Amino acid sequence: MTAQHFPPAKIPPSALLDSSFFGTVEKTAIPSILDVKNSIFTTSGRASIALALADAQITPQDEILIPAYHCEAMVAPAKWRQSKIVFYRIKSDTKVDLKDVETKITSNTRVIIVTHYFGFEQDLQPIKKLCIEHNIILIEDCAHAMFGLSSGQPIGTTGDYAIGSCMKFLPIYEGGMLCSSNRNLKSIELTKPSLRFQAKSTVNALETSLKFHRLGSFGRLINFLLKIKDTLWQTIKRTGISSNESLGPSSSDGGFGLDEAWIYKSMSYFSYWILRHAPMDEIAEKRRNNYQAIQTALADLPNCRVLFENLPEHTVPWVFPVYVKHPEKYFPLLKMQGIPVWRFAEFLDPAITPEVCAVSIEYSKHIFQFPCHQSLQPDELDWMLNEIKHIFTK
Ligand SMILES: Cc1ncc(COP(=O)(O)O)c(C=O)c1O
Repeated sequence: MTAQHFPPAKIPPSALLDSSFFGTVEKTAIPSILDVKNSIFTTSGRASIALALADAQITPQDEILIPAYHCEAMVAPAKWRQSKIVFYRIKSDTKVDLKDVETKITSNTRVIIVTHYFGFEQDLQPIKKLCIEHNIILIEDCAHAMFGLSSGQPIGTTGDYAIGSCMKFLPIYEGGMLCSSNRNLKSIELTKPSLRFQAKSTVNALETSLKFHRLGSFGRLINFLLKIKDTLWQTIKRTGISSNESLGPSSSDGGFGLDEAWIYKSMSYFSYWILRHAPMDEIAEKRRNNYQAIQTALADLPNCRVLFENLPEHTVPWVFPVYVKHPEKYFPLLKMQGIPVWRFAEFLDPAITPEVCAVSIEYSKHIFQFPCHQSLQPDELDWMLNEIKHIFTK
């Protein structure tokens, strides 16, 4: 059975816009990638990795260490630089296998990408030490971890570069970040995407929320939305925009590759506004609460086991990952019920053999992820948990 035969998700797969974005913005207490000293705002996480590699002047002679447990979006930027890609192992707790990394380092190794999987932090100190010893650039991949601490430091501050994928945490169509605490990033010049794209980014975020009836009852909001729509429409008519630029990067429509035309583009005004007005503490708390509710519900279920038993104090999960026995049976059953379930590393690079990393191969099939985002309403969460319970006891 192929993906296109599955019905659409019955509950929102990702965060939606609601009235919480229109309140007063308070200083947030939760550590996040926004705390890193220097940042630029891009259209995606993969564009940010590409920009980091370009800023570090990575050439085809250079080797880049990438985790064997990955998605294509993490590999595509290295291919864009035509560098040699070397995959390293992860352990069954998704932590970096440092011994394997050591054996993979050569005199050509210039970069290592380390991922905080599903929002759960890696201990970066030993890796950083290794990087300093071998003069290797550390890219902290915070695509799954917008919030949190790593070895007591805000997420994103330990790496020479850190990248974020804001669309995984916020109700936006596109948005990524490239940050650095030790490089000023000033030589990276981004151009503003076209007005057509600005309009698409805005309308898409609003439409997604309207689809799940999140904005319907807010008169104030509706006025606001109509004003935005009218203003954008008038501007578009006035400027008579026509351009060859594709309307949006494929990263925003579920694509895995890297659109070169979108690497040097900045985030839309709308996404940036949302990023600046998001109630981060509330988002973090809701995600943590939903995570814990799912954990309790799945604790004694047969045919699955929770990947991370503990939710550390500052961890804010991207999704809820579960190890599932018989994935070929349960994945389609869940999908057919309209549950938004997916697998982050479903399609690994063909270079990943059991010798390279058996855990990655196993996890690419067996780790399912369920949403735990802030926009899930209690009845939606209950519905999903009941369906999951029913299916896993079959
Ligand atoms: C671990 C990881 N890093 C980087 C990326 C790239 O992020 P984006 O989709 O914003 O390009 C992804 C995308 O899913 C990812 O899962």
